Amino acid sequence: MKFKIAILGAGNVAWHLAPALENAGHEITEVYARDIEKAVKITERLYSAVPKADLDFSESEAEIFILAVKDSAIPEVADAVILPEECILVHTSGAIPLDILGYSSATYIGIFYPLQSFTMGKKMDISDVPFLIESEDQDTLRKLKKLGNSLSQMVYVVRSKDRKAIHVAAVFASNFSNHMIRIAEEIMRRQGLDFEMLKPLIIETISKSLQIGAKNAQTGPAIREDYETLEEHHRFLNYNEQLAEIYRLISQDIIDS
Ligand SMILES: NC(=O)c1ccc[n+]([C@@H]2O[C@H](COP(=O)([O-])OP(=O)(O)OC[C@H]3O[C@@H](n4cnc5c(N)ncnc54)[C@H](OP(=O)(O)O)[C@@H]3O)[C@@H](O)[C@H]2O)c1
Repeated sequence: MKFKIAILGAGNVAWHLAPALENAGHEITEVYARDIEKAVKITERLYSAVPKADLDFSESEAEIFILAVKDSAIPEVADAVILPEECILVHTSGAIPLDILGYSSATYIGIFYPLQSFTMGKKMDISDVPFLIESEDQDTLRKLKKLGNSLSQMVYVVRSKDRKAIHVAAVFASNFSNHMIRIAEEIMRRQGLDFEMLKPLIIETISKSLQIGAKNAQTGPAIREDYETLEEHHRFLNYNEQLAEIYRLISQDIIDS
């Protein structure tokens, strides 16, 4: 089943999703961005999609409209977009409930949330991305399943309540882990040391955690309850009160869990 699809938004997700959908045989009809130059940046990577800076899609041939704007703009853009009859409007957010699209002019609404971290310009294999889908309408759900399966083997039907829990878990697993690496980079840089030294440790930590479970994989002064080292590290970080507090809170949580 091939679809005609319009993408609303020209950020990280649009940059990845639009060409992947074309490669899967779908047709991208339009790409919307409020700044036309940003829409052009995406359409340049596509066969025949038209860049658009207005939200009147009444003449569009698309059947599925993918809203990939930042979370806080989803209600505003969903309300403002003028859609053709009998189309499906989905958003790609992990955090925003389905019913927010209920005020739009779409006949059918749904969720098409790719559970991965996307950054414009950083290539990735979309076939490894889990897609979390949702719709109250069974035919829409069936179409979203087809759409998801045309990109990836991993398509899950997930209700908004569970999607929120998954999103919170994803923030810990991905965003916070990444931020910890950023803090490590900064500590090394501040001391004039080469971050390369830490890379094998980071790779082994993630790989081991996924292999044997994070609880079994934990090492370090907190799990050993080595209070002397914990105190030393805390003192080392006294140049940054917030960092010292993060260190204390996470160490305590490791001890407690
Ligand atoms: N990036 C990820 O890793 C990821 C993963 C899964 C799901 N998502 C979800 O996918 C959606 C898009 O994320 P993203 O990372 O692609 O965001 P992004 O890179 O920040 O791009 C956001 C897009 O929204 C547009 N936008 C912002 N405010 C707008 C407004 N008031 N009216 C119209 N357009 C507006 C931006 O236009 P301007 O450039 O003009 O501001 C830009 O095109 C979000 O719901 C996000 O939660 C993201």
